[in-house]
Amino acid sequence: MPALGLGTWQAPKGEVGQAVLEAIRLGYRHIDCAAIYGNEKEIGEALEAAFQAGDVRREELWITSKLWNNRHGHHNVRPAIEKTLADLRLDYLDLYLIHWPVPMKYVVPHVPNQFLSLEEQPIADTWLGMEEVLEADLTKHIGVSNFSIKKLTQLLEVARHNPEVNQVEMHPLLAQNTLCRFCEAEKIHITAYTPLGRPAAGDRPANAPELLESPVVTAIAEQHQCTPAQVVLAWAMERGTAPIPKSTNPRRLAENLASQNIALTDADMAALNKLDRHYRYVDGTFWTPPGSPYTLQNLWDEG
Ligand code: A2P
Repeated sequence: MPALGLGTWQAPKGEVGQAVLEAIRLGYRHIDCAAIYGNEKEIGEALEAAFQAGDVRREELWITSKLWNNRHGHHNVRPAIEKTLADLRLDYLDLYLIHWPVPMKYVVPHVPNQFLSLEEQPIADTWLGMEEVLEADLTKHIGVSNFSIKKLTQLLEVARHNPEVNQVEMHPLLAQNTLCRFCEAEKIHITAYTPLGRPAAGDRPANAPELLESPVVTAIAEQHQCTPAQVVLAWAMERGTAPIPKSTNPRRLAENLASQNIALTDADMAALNKLDRHYRYVDGTFWTPPGSPYTLQNLWDEG
């Protein structure tokens, strides 16, 4: 998996296709998608255009997508990945992830009684469907997203094919060192979402800290004559994780890709590591309305 990828969460329709084309031309080879982002059709058109123009070959790209919450259950996985493949105009994915360990009856959040508990709809059952699409060559790798050590441990106990990736929110304010050590020991690669700490307004908690304005980050950026975004992306890659910053802006796409050329020192890493305060921008409260079987405690298995 190429270390740095293009995130497409909150990349609006009408912009995302152009961003994908531009990203491929700049040299991005890893694109992170999901059915719920609602933009896979436009991304598929852009991918087809890039292949036809000879900008890139399919086998040079790493394309990830994700199973949405209303598609848990082993019978639902194959139709879900087939829809994503049709939208993306691809024969196979490089990686397919369970998006959240939160099975739901409907697509849309915030509808009462929409949730299924993990007793009613076990992850192990959904994983059977993930293994089936892997064995059918619809994807080359399978994994999960937003999984705790506890849920990964339970899955590893029953899996015939182990999850190869866990995609989680990760940046210097949420370093998740224990999860990183666990995943390294289990050969589970980590993809870091929201690596810049900048989810769009609606998904951003009030009074959220401005990671890119942290004096520690801006001082390191000044020393390296680079931008704060490049510092936090370089931090993610130096730790062996794969950040997927989202941008639809050509200048910032290029800026983010160029973070691969920045070599942080041990002192830079130590200073950035001290910023950790286990702060989540995407804290999962949208899965915990009244009546939901989910709480922040049993979602993250923390506290
Ligand atoms: P835009 O698409 O206009 O570039 P994250 O990936 O952490 O969720 O952050 C995505 C947000 O950060 C988007 O609003 C994106 O806006 C913005 N962004 C992307 N790249 C940079 C950058 N290099 N510097 C500052 N903001 C950026």
